[in-house]
Amino acid sequence: KILILDFGSQYTQLIARRVRELGVYSEVRAFDMSEEEIRAYNPNGIILAGGPESVAELGSPRAPECVFTLGLPVFGICYGMQTMAEQLGGKVEGANKREFGFAEVGIDAETALFADIADRLDTDSGKRTLEVWMSHGDKVAEVPPGFTVTASTPSCPVAAMSREDKQFFGVQFHPEVTHTLQGQRILEHFVVGICRAETNWTPAQIIEDQVSRVREQVGDRHVLLGLSGGVDSSVVAALLHRAIGDQLTCVFVDNGLLRKNEGEQVMETFASHMGVNVIRVDAEQRFLDKLAGQADPEIKRKRIGNTFIEVFDEEAAKIDGVDFLAQGTIYPDVIESAAAKTGKAHVIKSHHNVGGLPDTMKLKLVEPLRELFKDEVRRLGVELGLPADMVYRHPFPGPGLGVRILGEVKKEYADILREADAIFIEELRRSGWYDKTSQAFAVFLPVKSVGVVGDGRRYEWVIALRAVETVDFMTARWAHLPYELLETVSNRIINEMEGVSRVTYDVSSKPPATIEWE
Ligand code: XMP
Repeated sequence: KILILDFGSQYTQLIARRVRELGVYSEVRAFDMSEEEIRAYNPNGIILAGGPESVAELGSPRAPECVFTLGLPVFGICYGMQTMAEQLGGKVEGANKREFGFAEVGIDAETALFADIADRLDTDSGKRTLEVWMSHGDKVAEVPPGFTVTASTPSCPVAAMSREDKQFFGVQFHPEVTHTLQGQRILEHFVVGICRAETNWTPAQIIEDQVSRVREQVGDRHVLLGLSGGVDSSVVAALLHRAIGDQLTCVFVDNGLLRKNEGEQVMETFASHMGVNVIRVDAEQRFLDKLAGQADPEIKRKRIGNTFIEVFDEEAAKIDGVDFLAQGTIYPDVIESAAAKTGKAHVIKSHHNVGGLPDTMKLKLVEPLRELFKDEVRRLGVELGLPADMVYRHPFPGPGLGVRILGEVKKEYADILREADAIFIEELRRSGWYDKTSQAFAVFLPVKSVGVVGDGRRYEWVIALRAVETVDFMTARWAHLPYELLETVSNRIINEMEGVSRVTYDVSSKPPATIEWE
């Protein structure tokens, strides 16, 4: 396994994902991890990741000294290379020019890191070059004693360096992003070739490990799970069912703000098909009552969240002998909340599922996805036999249609929105655009607009369609859906449905707009 020390770069998690894609387990830890902890973790190699600070500045973070004395291979990336250079006796200086974007680096010396890799080969000089993604201000001006410069660009004389006898390597560019064409092979050279880490991190293996861990943790006791129909809780349900069968009880709260047929699908997949114990609670009226007269998005969010907890607690109280509560916490949540606690992360995404259940529940937690990234969770879901369209579906916010009905929520609005949304999603799937967009949905606008149907004048509601492409949901581009597709969706919504006289398409990107309308 590989240890990744985090200096606060937004790319650190991506490094961990890439390493795991190679089938090697890796964890992200804060840069000031103690020697004791590092020894206990017992990695095959260490990656020093990037960070926003300047090595040249007083008080900027350093890697623990033991990183360079444990006899392990070390790979510094960006800031990681700079701190490695500085700590081992080289020199780093503030660059007068910031490099950001594509760069072509020339390989200057043989190194195990770049063995047999090239994007271009100059046949005359025999020189190999790589297309890479650079993003840095400072640069290494002098490599430490014993090191060789292994790659350079005109503006970055030390784009890579290494000391092969000690297995210390550094690159100024980012091998973890896809813009660096050979990035994954570079990581593979380090992780598999140089560190000789075992490649046993596969979905089947993860499931086997988790099943036995859960069995050990839970024994013959009972576990309760809030099943929402989302990817994470669905995979937890399938995994726990495999591990402990009837000792699992799921509570599925239908808040009346779900997509069309979603409740039925959850019951069919889990209860009918897999034989999981699922209690479905029909709480539509209760949620509608709590939301009546409320137009403020944040108040709506809070009421929906609190009502969910109330309903869930009431159901839980009816079940005897529960000792554990299962949750679909995934690894990015764990890294982010650790970073938030220590105040070390510079960019902390506020994610929406924090909070949750009150301490009074006194249940012990079972969190079998705590070590997994979203793409790993999806692969696990497929391996566990969940339907692909459930595992690969677009994210759906906790408050559901509640934040897609602008202003006050009413049953009439929810019913119209559900129908329009279903038509949009059906056409996206039919045309092959569902998988090309990251998130797509309809929004209910509580304004009336005039239309004509036959000879009659129609004065009805407006539906907005939203579809975006994004990788991280922090920034997003509105999807350039074909006009013909928009035309079909619009015609179907207006003709097949009552209560809608106009359909619009949202052409706002994030930022400045958000993905949801509220
Ligand atoms: P925004 O609208 O902030 O959305 O650009 C980014 C992502 O977060 C989802 N989202 C939520 N998820 N509870 C959730 O569980 C919420 O209150 C919430 N608000 C937004 C949104 O669907 C998108 O994927």
